[in-house]
Amino acid sequence: MKKITLLLLGVCVAVCASAQVQVKIHEEAENQPVIPAEIYGQFAEHLGRCIYDGIWVGPDSDIPNINGYRKDLIEALQVLKVPVLRWPGGCFADEYHWMDGIGPKENRPMMINNNWGGTVEDNSFGTHEFFNLCELLDCEPYLSGNVGSGTVEELAKWVEYITAEGGTMAEMRAANGRKEPWSLKYLGVGNESWGCGGNMRPEFYSDLYRRYATYCRNFDGNILYKVASGASDYDYNWTKVLMDRIGNQMHGVSLHYYTVTGWTGPKGPALGFDTDSYYDIVAKAVEVEEVIENHKAIMNAYDPEGRVDLLLDEWGTWFDVEPGTNPGHLYQQNTMRDAMVAAMSLNIFHRHTDRLKMANIAQIVNVLQAMILTKGDEIVLTPTYHVFRMYNVHQDATYVPTEVNAGNIVSPSGRIMPDLSVTASKDAEGKLHVSIVNPVVDKEQTLTLSFDDLNPKNVTGEVLAAETVQSYNDFGKEPAVAPEAFTAFKKNGKTLTVTVPAASIVSLAF
Ligand code: AHR
Repeated sequence: MKKITLLLLGVCVAVCASAQVQVKIHEEAENQPVIPAEIYGQFAEHLGRCIYDGIWVGPDSDIPNINGYRKDLIEALQVLKVPVLRWPGGCFADEYHWMDGIGPKENRPMMINNNWGGTVEDNSFGTHEFFNLCELLDCEPYLSGNVGSGTVEELAKWVEYITAEGGTMAEMRAANGRKEPWSLKYLGVGNESWGCGGNMRPEFYSDLYRRYATYCRNFDGNILYKVASGASDYDYNWTKVLMDRIGNQMHGVSLHYYTVTGWTGPKGPALGFDTDSYYDIVAKAVEVEEVIENHKAIMNAYDPEGRVDLLLDEWGTWFDVEPGTNPGHLYQQNTMRDAMVAAMSLNIFHRHTDRLKMANIAQIVNVLQAMILTKGDEIVLTPTYHVFRMYNVHQDATYVPTEVNAGNIVSPSGRIMPDLSVTASKDAEGKLHVSIVNPVVDKEQTLTLSFDDLNPKNVTGEVLAAETVQSYNDFGKEPAVAPEAFTAFKKNGKTLTVTVPAASIVSLAF
């Protein structure tokens, strides 16, 4: 009975909101924050076919490559403008011993990837391969250090190996082919230390963090930005204890939030879901806003000056693996529903950059909510990839506040989500970009955009939509989801009327 009432309410609200929607864009608002490019961060773990097959095929592969990196992937990622890449995990990071991944490949030891399917890892992708990849992508490296099963000395020496100009570690690096140090800003001190990273209590982890942070040094002008391993989802006590005990010793604290309907039992398929499940997933994704707000409130209480940043360094959808694939490899397809999750989430992140300084979607290729899927020498750009490409105009742009009189949708499981989401920013050239998400599956929405001062001329648009929210891009087929030029807008004096198709994402540039 309750479910029926909620469903009716959801439908009613969506219908009621289908009238003209007023959107005010305050492009002249002053003192607005810059949206850090790092909100568009990525994550690559030694998990399934993310690193091997996805990124690295080796220089001798028949698959076209640039010194071992897939050429098609590199070219697609260069278009995305990846600002930061987190590596080597994830859970893998706390079992990773970096010295196994340097030097001649034939001498590198094998290990079992205990977290992810028991796959044998040959360490052929290690520190040099990662840092060279970051140079190729022109992105900031973000290392996750091994706290769970490693030692303070091991992590301290890794930092020295990467960043010092002289000394034994630097000589070792030079002998392995890299004379110049790399620069390293982001250093994660452990990952999910409450779980796969050591099953610690926050009090114990805080003490351990102090030790690691003490010995991970700044060498030769390289300044580390140290990130404490933060909470998952609704674990507010973890953030509280860390802020209390090590708030003055960390630059950032992480947070993980996955769009998943439950950790035990089936998570639901990535493909072939019904409309109820569509709304449940998108509504679960937007619940991240409440989670961010609650962690921020704790941080504000301990750190009103905003010295410590919040980094959502894992987020995205998590469904059942594709049938027939290794359950430990987390390979899932990606539909228009994932695109909605990505766009609605990014719109939320833009609103919280006073504290939220980075977000890393999990993961970059072949794992969870990936940008790219690969099969042999084929590559597929997912609907999520297209959102990240359409949205990269917001990187390092100044946030522009918007006012929207949107309605609400109540999902079948009782979660509430907006039936429209809008974000805007102004780039360095003064160009205004407005991104609009209409998550309603069966209703286009007509919006009237008004501005502080702008007379909307020279408007260009792009839209990401598909036949259904279940649509996805598959190997050997024409893409079912790809951005197209958008022209369904009309100038009315100083306002712009925009007709946003059902279940679509529209980007406008002024
Ligand atoms: O992204 C997959 C896994 O999810 C990561 O390894 C871990 O940190 C999280 O639980």
